[in-house]
Amino acid sequence: MTAPFSVLHQFPLQSLNTFGIAASARAYVRITETEQLLGVYADGDWAALPKLVLGGGSNVLLTGDFDGLVLHIALQGKAVVGEENGRHLVRAAAGENWHAFVQWTLAQGIGGLENLSLIPGTVGAAPIQNIGAYGLEIKDVFHSVTVFDPRSGATRVLDGAACRFGYRDSVFKHEEGRHLIILDVTFALPTQWRPNLRYADLAAEPGLGDAPTPRQVADAVIAIRRRKLPDPALIGNAGSFFKNPVVPGAQCAALLARFPTLVHHAQPDGTEKLAAGWLIDQCGWKGRSLGAAGVYPKQALVLVNNGGASGADVVALARAIQADVQARYGVLLEPEPVFI
Ligand code: FAD
Ligand code: EPU
Repeated sequence: MTAPFSVLHQFPLQSLNTFGIAASARAYVRITETEQLLGVYADGDWAALPKLVLGGGSNVLLTGDFDGLVLHIALQGKAVVGEENGRHLVRAAAGENWHAFVQWTLAQGIGGLENLSLIPGTVGAAPIQNIGAYGLEIKDVFHSVTVFDPRSGATRVLDGAACRFGYRDSVFKHEEGRHLIILDVTFALPTQWRPNLRYADLAAEPGLGDAPTPRQVADAVIAIRRRKLPDPALIGNAGSFFKNPVVPGAQCAALLARFPTLVHHAQPDGTEKLAAGWLIDQCGWKGRSLGAAGVYPKQALVLVNNGGASGADVVALARAIQADVQARYGVLLEPEPVFI
């Protein structure tokens, strides 16, 4: 069954992307019911246009106007739906705000998501890049996801294996899954909670003590993030602009011989994850600007809109940084946000 939907034309997107880039979409629909998606794809004219699925716009870089239809996912609802193998199953619709959802789980007395507090955006986008912070990725607490497949008009459920999660990666970023629209996500959260203080900065945060509560861990994460990251409501940004590069162990060893203070983390498969923020910082980019785009003075991995930046300004800055890091360290930095 399809549901009615209204299309807005030449729709401004500046307030729908946290970089605050001024751009517009040829057409825009706010999706509040799943059946509206069926309606959009059943209509020959709208079905034919290129689509941009948008949640909170906190991981996209608009490089120009979008000549297609924006599907703004605003599906709402959240509930504890059961228990399985000693875990609470908690489900939220794709349009729910991620941070508000995490705080709601804590208010229900359910811990497990607190390390991911204050990440902007929606629940539906969380699986796309397998969001992660402070020692936790959603793959660690993931149960399943319901997706709408525009090619068949059908809805189906994918488990963690089908999502093929990796560091800032999932099936939804690749050919086989890029067309799928996430409708809701179910998390499996521990009934026997223990704090996850693996991340050194978090463990070192004062006030946590020996036996912190989930709420205290959430507050510590929030405090660290507020110190380091710009609030998109005040300074346009999309969080980390580049992924932390993962290199072979031998390449890391060779770099360490030349740069002994290189920040790196050994991975279980023998590769090494380098801190892109450190590489950019060492190249002298921290706090510098190129036109209206700049590098955040407190965290070199975050590119910011100093006011009136275009997508092209941000791309020019990103290319200059990539070139410097490549020249000095022989490492190619890959952008994290999705370029539109
Ligand atoms: P959008 O930007 O709207 O979309 C991102 C991508 O997902 C696009 O390709 C879009 O098409 C797709 N998408 C969105 N919703 C759906 C859906 N329902 N179905 C299918 N595709 C969809 N990320 C981290 O991992 N860790 C962090 O610590 C972190 N910190 C951040 C801090 C700041 C200040 C900012 C601005 C960003 C940060 N991010 C972080 C990045 C960002 O918050 C996450 O990637 C978030 O999940 C994006 O959610 P969104 O709803 O804004 O997605
Ligand atoms: N560093 C510097 N200079 C800088 C920035 C960082 O030397 O300007 C060094 C730090 O001293 C530290 C290391 O780099 O030793 C790592 O820095 P940080 O702990 O701030 O984390 P990050 O690797 O820069 C990653 C994620 C963040 C996530 C944090 C916490 C990526 C691309 N980024 O940042 O995610 O919040 O860890 O887990 O993996 C995002 O994806 O948008 C994001 C913000």
